[in-house]
Amino acid sequence: MAIRGSMGGKKHMKTYDIAVIGGDGTGPEVVREAVKVLDAAAIKFNLELNYTPYDVGGERYLKTGEVLPDSVLAELRKFPAILLGAIGHPDVKPGILEKGILLRTRFELEQYINLRPVKLYDERFCPLKDKKPEHIDFVVVRENNEGLYTGSGGFVFKGTPDEIAVQESINTRRGVERCLRFAFEFCRKRNRAKQLTLCGKTNVLTYAFDLWERAFREIGEKDFPDVKRDYAHVDATTMWFVKNPEWFDVIVTDNMFGDIITDLGAMIQGGMGIAAGGNINPRGTSMFEPIGGSAPKYTGLNVINPLAAICAGQMMLDFLGESKAAQAIEAAVIKIVREKLKNLAAGKMGYGTREVGDLVAAAV
Ligand code: IPM
Ligand code: MN
Repeated sequence: MAIRGSMGGKKHMKTYDIAVIGGDGTGPEVVREAVKVLDAAAIKFNLELNYTPYDVGGERYLKTGEVLPDSVLAELRKFPAILLGAIGHPDVKPGILEKGILLRTRFELEQYINLRPVKLYDERFCPLKDKKPEHIDFVVVRENNEGLYTGSGGFVFKGTPDEIAVQESINTRRGVERCLRFAFEFCRKRNRAKQLTLCGKTNVLTYAFDLWERAFREIGEKDFPDVKRDYAHVDATTMWFVKNPEWFDVIVTDNMFGDIITDLGAMIQGGMGIAAGGNINPRGTSMFEPIGGSAPKYTGLNVINPLAAICAGQMMLDFLGESKAAQAIEAAVIKIVREKLKNLAAGKMGYGTREVGDLVAAAV
């Protein structure tokens, strides 16, 4: 609960109800630091942030067999935003929690955009030679509800030498179009190079990316003539992330390609310690999370970098319309990254998890 600012008084305060899922491994620790920083911003900008914790994740599953109870999902729908730590437990078979919690929430709450900014804050933390903050500053708009992630497909003759496994990529005109429109709007509002790159594979995926490319061209020509359109194959995109990341402004792509290229994006911006993303439903409940996993081996050691979770909190405030508070958090993160941290990796920061949270909160 935020402490009320002395000047504003209750009736001028904007109130936001936030669902918080710490989740597995280091998730709860990093979310704690994100909340610390959000509370500092709330005091400064006269906001009231009310947090409701939800206990889902590997521990609950191992104890009760429940992954994401329908009742919890129904409650989550009532919030404008969810702050998520991490999902993934070493004692649970891969796929159960990821599909049952993360993907189910993304799908059922129709968070059809996964927004992943790739922004370098300090050249010391970039693995690329001669690349500086002015060279790495783009945003990936990943389609988040379709493609290879829907679970469409199946086995025939499973377990025999004749086995067939089919995994289908689902691309609907509606799903592709709403994603493209979001990306065009986002690129226009961002107002930088105003260049939107479609990342695909039109030379091989001649059905799926034919649909994407046609929709991209039609929507762009008709409704976004002010946005420059550009196309890159996914393989070339990974090459340019390394060679010429400065060529990109906003990239739009399907679910699987978006998953892959944003891990590379995270590395060139300084690693999983700093990379955050938002699962967006522009008219519903959105969910903000660090891109990295639950890092079980670092759990409880006060060594994990909380900046990705803090940046997820910053994206959340921005999405809620509190852009000044979001900017203040980003400025504080930049200051601490540049002036204090030795490294962005777990255990090498020169400070502990809580101390990094304290530093950023104080800088806000
Ligand atoms: C991500 C993750 C997830 C994904 C996994 C954990 C299901 O890699 O958020 O990028 O593939 O989307
Ligand atoms: Mn991923």
